[in-house]
Amino acid sequence: MYIILKNLHSYLAIILLLVVIAAAIYSIYGWTKDKNFSDTSKKILLAGLIAAHLQLVIGFVIYFISPLGISNFSKEVMGNSIGRLYALEHPLMMLVGIILITIGYSKSKRAKNETTKFRLAGIFYTIGLLLILSRIPWHVWI
Ligand code: HEM
Repeated sequence: MYIILKNLHSYLAIILLLVVIAAAIYSIYGWTKDKNFSDTSKKILLAGLIAAHLQLVIGFVIYFISPLGISNFSKEVMGNSIGRLYALEHPLMMLVGIILITIGYSKSKRAKNETTKFRLAGIFYTIGLLLILSRIPWHVWI
């Protein structure tokens, strides 16, 4: 179970990054070029949101079953950069990144103006993405 979820978390991370990068670039392009916010625009943002929420659920489960997750949380581990990354920094930063993507999606959805829809999604998705990129365990991944 642990290995299956760990592999799923690892592969879903690739899909999530591709979709969120695409959504962020697409939104910034739409914002700066004053494009129409179409049904496709909505679907691209929604794909990023769904991938992020799926990864959040899987991440939470792994956090409770992985030997690197909550079971490894201690004062001594906080002094070790890799231990701290898995037990604290990675989960926390991913959570903040996903919250920002969620806020961006819902603010964009509620906005009346088409350029504002792109602007809000572009800003929130990009900041969320940068936070996510900053705390991925790159040393073991890809
Ligand atoms: C945007 C969301 C996330 C992304 C892109 C992401 C990405 C990754 C990646 C690439 C790994 C390394 C996998 C490997 O070793 O092959 C990993 C490991 C891990 N992630 Fe995430 N993650 C996300 C969210 C979360 C969340 C929300 C949690 C917990 C609440 C979490 C907990 C963990 C844990 C505990 C590991 C270590 C698993 C192990 O090796 O035993 N992740 N994550």
